[in-house]
Amino acid sequence: MSVLFATSEAYPLIKTGGLADVSGALPAALTELGVDVRLVLPRYGDLALREDQTTEHLARLDVLGQPVDILHTVMPDSGVRVYLVDHPTFSARQGNPYMGPDGNSWHDNPDRFALFARAAVAVATGEVDPDWRPDVVHANDWQTGLIPALLHEAEKPQTVFTLHNLAYQGVFDRSTFERLGLPWSLWRPDGLEFWGNMSFIKGGIVFADRITTVSPNYAREIQTPEFGYGLDGLLRHRRDSLVGILNGIGSDWNPETDPALVAPYSRETLDGKAANKAALQKELGLPIRDDVPLIVHVGRLVEQKGIDLVIQALSMLGQRDVQFACLGSGERRFEQALRARAEADPERIAVRIGYDEGLAHRLEGGGDAFIMPSRFEPCGLNQLYSLRYGTVPIVHSVGGLADTVTPVTPATLRDGSATGIVMNHVDVNSILWSIDEFTALFNRPDDLSQVRRQAMAQQYDWGASARSYLELYHAISNAEPQ
Ligand code: ADP
Ligand code: GLC
Repeated sequence: MSVLFATSEAYPLIKTGGLADVSGALPAALTELGVDVRLVLPRYGDLALREDQTTEHLARLDVLGQPVDILHTVMPDSGVRVYLVDHPTFSARQGNPYMGPDGNSWHDNPDRFALFARAAVAVATGEVDPDWRPDVVHANDWQTGLIPALLHEAEKPQTVFTLHNLAYQGVFDRSTFERLGLPWSLWRPDGLEFWGNMSFIKGGIVFADRITTVSPNYAREIQTPEFGYGLDGLLRHRRDSLVGILNGIGSDWNPETDPALVAPYSRETLDGKAANKAALQKELGLPIRDDVPLIVHVGRLVEQKGIDLVIQALSMLGQRDVQFACLGSGERRFEQALRARAEADPERIAVRIGYDEGLAHRLEGGGDAFIMPSRFEPCGLNQLYSLRYGTVPIVHSVGGLADTVTPVTPATLRDGSATGIVMNHVDVNSILWSIDEFTALFNRPDDLSQVRRQAMAQQYDWGASARSYLELYHAISNAEPQ
């Protein structure tokens, strides 16, 4: 079985969110199952190539009259091969892959990702390496949505399209469609057209042989108007080809071996967590106290994650004896509001704006609880990391969060299945309620330690998910079974 995995970000080369984690870890797990999986990724200016990581030039393509180079490199730890699509609209820009320093999307994103799609199709059809034609092309999110559309007519390969987040659709006006030189046969409501505009994500949803989402619950939710963003009808129409496969977590998220922690710990040596908490409080300038619950958050500062509600709740803490620490970047208004809260309440609130992989690990290691009141959450990785780190997840019962966290109730405490605090609604009062629920749990050390241990016993490694993807690839391709 051979698979070309097309993605706009992949850890450790470039990351803005969970898509990068998945694109780093899933191909590695598939490789372990014997799949010949290769990535295709834009060659951004800021790729974190290791010093000893070489790139070699493979081919020069002509994409609608523009020269595009295809480079080749190998992922340092997993050995997964990567085709890098090199064009100045990627390589001459630093920083975030999708937006400029002003926080606005690059104006030519449709052109960049259409060019990327065409280059990926060239790799998939043997134009770059005539000896390698994948059985399956697996595309991810709107940035790669044109790939299934462009491959639709070709005899091979088959296509899988994964929806990591239906809220980002890549919708542009009709003149963009005209400028991109796409076949007019694609301009129809059961093609790329979306209410008079063009939609990249529809390329994947309409034309892929199979559609997946990153949790079973989200696969159901997106078939409803509430979560379908205008595409629920189309998704219901394709429901026989739609399946939810839960994400896993990579081996670099392991409290027993995590180099970012001052003290490694396991389910058996949970007490070691206290040293990480003290170190984190010190690092963030919070009072070093073991008797106060430390609630943490890491994430993109956008409405999806409910960060606006957290900010409101932080100004309504009253006399509550809790600490809150947050790392994130995103919308300026949320960054500013968080900074202001921290300045106003430095004994309880610490905020770091920016992107910091090491601090994200230290927050998981040192926090008592991790709050994730997302309005919607296709899968969510931080609650999975939190489970593994024995950092009690506090979540809204939605998407993958509902699939992975078992609420603390008298019954689940009795039968030992409880792993986190679950809110049935997402509003400020629910957040304050969840903080109180967690504080109460924190003050019952036996229950707390039972919940932590049960959380850490959950298995969300990539093995099972990778096997589900492999079954799916086999179901649609003619490749020999492994
Ligand atoms: P999403 O993909 O919607 O952003 P996920 O929970 O799936 O949400 O994944 C987010 C990933 O990005 C996690 O690995 C998280 O630790 C990481 N992350 C988000 N913001 C930051 C940040 N500011 N610094 C470090 N890591 C971050
Ligand atoms: C998206 C989703 C997140 C998911 C991630 C990886 O960014 O918002 O829930 O975990 O993709 O699949």
